Amino acid sequence: MILSIESSCDDSSIAITEIETKKLIYHKKISQDKEHSKYGGVVPELAARLHTKALPKILEECKAYFNSIKAVAVTNEPGLSVTLIEGVTMAKALSIALDIPLIAVNHLKGHIASLFIEQEAIFPMITLLVSGGHTMVLRVDDFFHYEVLATTLDDSFGESFDKVAKMLGLGYPGGPKVEEYAKNGDSNRFDFTIPLYNSNRLAFSYSGLKNQVRVTIKSLGELSKKDKEDICASFEKVAIKHLLHKIKNILKKLPQDIKIFSIVGGASANMSLRESIMALSKEYNLELRVAELKYCSDNAAMIGRYAIEAYRYKYFCDIKDLQINPKIISKS
Ligand code: KG4
Ligand code: ZN
Repeated sequence: MILSIESSCDDSSIAITEIETKKLIYHKKISQDKEHSKYGGVVPELAARLHTKALPKILEECKAYFNSIKAVAVTNEPGLSVTLIEGVTMAKALSIALDIPLIAVNHLKGHIASLFIEQEAIFPMITLLVSGGHTMVLRVDDFFHYEVLATTLDDSFGESFDKVAKMLGLGYPGGPKVEEYAKNGDSNRFDFTIPLYNSNRLAFSYSGLKNQVRVTIKSLGELSKKDKEDICASFEKVAIKHLLHKIKNILKKLPQDIKIFSIVGGASANMSLRESIMALSKEYNLELRVAELKYCSDNAAMIGRYAIEAYRYKYFCDIKDLQINPKIISKS
């Protein structure tokens, strides 16, 4: 079995996965949504402090499996430096105490592996990764080979939902709140412009759309619930249209060997996005793969799924060499 740890942002999670069968033996996650909600985004130092409490508490429940653990895997990039270090420190301690190898896992690769938890993987595929820190379209050939086809120039898809929710005082995380408000709203009331619509650039941009929302909120003065619902519906529609417009440009030139389209990441839980992508996949004759809703947002089960592949190839990391690599991640 492999014990995997995830602490790249505001979820403390540990999983135990059986190497041969891919079976998830144990999985627990303690989220910090409530604690960060009043700040309208993740406060890194608070997140780190909560991980120091939550991770040992979860690990305590895994003790019974310690004799069967053959490796420990941990997210070491990208993420918030002060929270990544919590998981990495625990992984190093376990590696020494149990005398087992360490596997470093890139969080984004973990999200892609979330499609195949307790399942065989199928490749190649085109994957849309939409999370709080990233918006990317990738060609994925296997667990270790990826090509980025498009990425965001500024904010990510999920982050733009978080920021709109913050402007409207809806709390954190913004994605589910904006989606909920959008359901009752009139998506035609505000005519937001689709970003980069007349540009050939295969890229995403959400900062301009966020600003359009900001200006609209300012112009309305005091907002009624109906105003908020209409803003959410109009924003969500355009945010999704922007994704679809650029993805279509990619699909038009799709290599013959690609038969699968997939969506992963926390924001892939958005139902309107799922429905739009489902229609698009049909149009291009692609099979759509989505992660189970419970595995869309950050979790250690996806880190474990990637790690069992890395274990097969002995992609181990020396304890002295395992560093955290925060890179960019949003804090909303
Ligand atoms: O993958 P994830 O859990 O964490 C990162 O790796 O960033 O994604 C979290 C992001 C947040 O920005 C959250 O607002 C967004 O996913 N999200 C959504 C929805 N549920 C979560 N965005 C839009 N609609 C949703 N239903
Ligand atoms: Zn994530």
